[in-house]
Amino acid sequence: MTLTPTAADKFSFGLWTIGYNGADPFGGPTRPALDVVHAVEKLAEYGAYGLTFHDDDLFAFGSTDAERQTQIDRLKQVLADTELIVPMVTTNLFSAPVFKDGGFTSNDRSVRRFALRKVMRNIDLAAELGAKTFVMWGGREGAEYDAAKDIRQALSRYREAVNLLGDYVTDKGYDIRFAIEPKPNEPRGDILLPTLGHALAFIDSLERPELVGVNPEVGHEQMAGLNFAAGIAQALYHGKLFHIDLNGQRGIKYDQDLVFAHGDLHNAFALVDLLENGGPQGGQAYDGPRHFDYKPSRTEDETGVWDSVKANMANYLLLKERAAAFRADPEVQEALKAAKVLELSEPTLNEGESYDDLLADTSAYEDFDAAGYYGAKGFGFVRLQQLASEHLMGAR
Ligand code: GCO
Ligand code: MN
Ligand code: MN
Repeated sequence: MTLTPTAADKFSFGLWTIGYNGADPFGGPTRPALDVVHAVEKLAEYGAYGLTFHDDDLFAFGSTDAERQTQIDRLKQVLADTELIVPMVTTNLFSAPVFKDGGFTSNDRSVRRFALRKVMRNIDLAAELGAKTFVMWGGREGAEYDAAKDIRQALSRYREAVNLLGDYVTDKGYDIRFAIEPKPNEPRGDILLPTLGHALAFIDSLERPELVGVNPEVGHEQMAGLNFAAGIAQALYHGKLFHIDLNGQRGIKYDQDLVFAHGDLHNAFALVDLLENGGPQGGQAYDGPRHFDYKPSRTEDETGVWDSVKANMANYLLLKERAAAFRADPEVQEALKAAKVLELSEPTLNEGESYDDLLADTSAYEDFDAAGYYGAKGFGFVRLQQLASEHLMGAR
């Protein structure tokens, strides 16, 4: 087993994650700012393959064109020196006061027009840097009060924005797809497209749905009490898992952004097993970036920041190794069979069977002992889960 990441593992980090200075609503920074050149050099040293960023992470909101270009040039130089890539870019439509009621869905039309321009400018930069995914996290797209936001009109404006951006990348010939990142709340009391299910339904209403997928984040679905691995399975089912934000969360509370697997470990195991072994032929189900969107706790110094970078990647690789061992265990194979997990892939009707045929099949109903069928036997799901637990804990 190797815990040393390589570029083939496709581990990427947001500049805002390692660059988080520890400021929260109750206290100021506990760490100095992190320069992008230093950040990229460190990520390369530890085996990551990619850096992602919001426009405002690289050059402060309100920078002059010259200041912006200086930072872009510095980033390009260090990318060339380290061979790191930029797989994803995103736009900050949430920090500046102008966005206090949102960007694409602010009640104020001038703000919406400014937001679109800010995003279009950043899409040009994303294309220039070769990013393939453009994430849209609408942190301020929402409300605290029901009367303050007409949700149906807000969704229409959201749709108008995404449709326009779809036209823009298409007309420009950019090889970029969009990934919507759901979150139920924080910073707004309620955020639009709160879960990945809401986002999938919204995507269906777009003019170019093929250009738009989701970027689910572990903690965001768990803040809504949902099963993240199960949600990812549905996103894969719809062909919409364009990107993923890995981190840790312990239950329904504020967005903790812990290191990946420092939250719900069983679900993290199920997730890695799904991504790595859940493909149609038992191989990888997802081959995009394994992107960590977490916050090094504000208790940490810079050494702690790099320890947390290493921890994210090590935890992913450990879970990948544990999941492979789980799948390879003959006892697990047998337990899966006994639990009829494999039987679920068999269609319920025979090939060519109609409902008339089903109605004529007395063994399906008239002669089927529904009352007695499962009286005495169980599925053995607990045994299967215990096998997973033992593999997860290194007991097998
Ligand atoms: C959060 C979000 C963000 C987004 C990022 C990308 O809860 O703060 O996860 O970190 O992922 O803004 O757009
Ligand atoms: Mn988050
Ligand atoms: Mn995120």
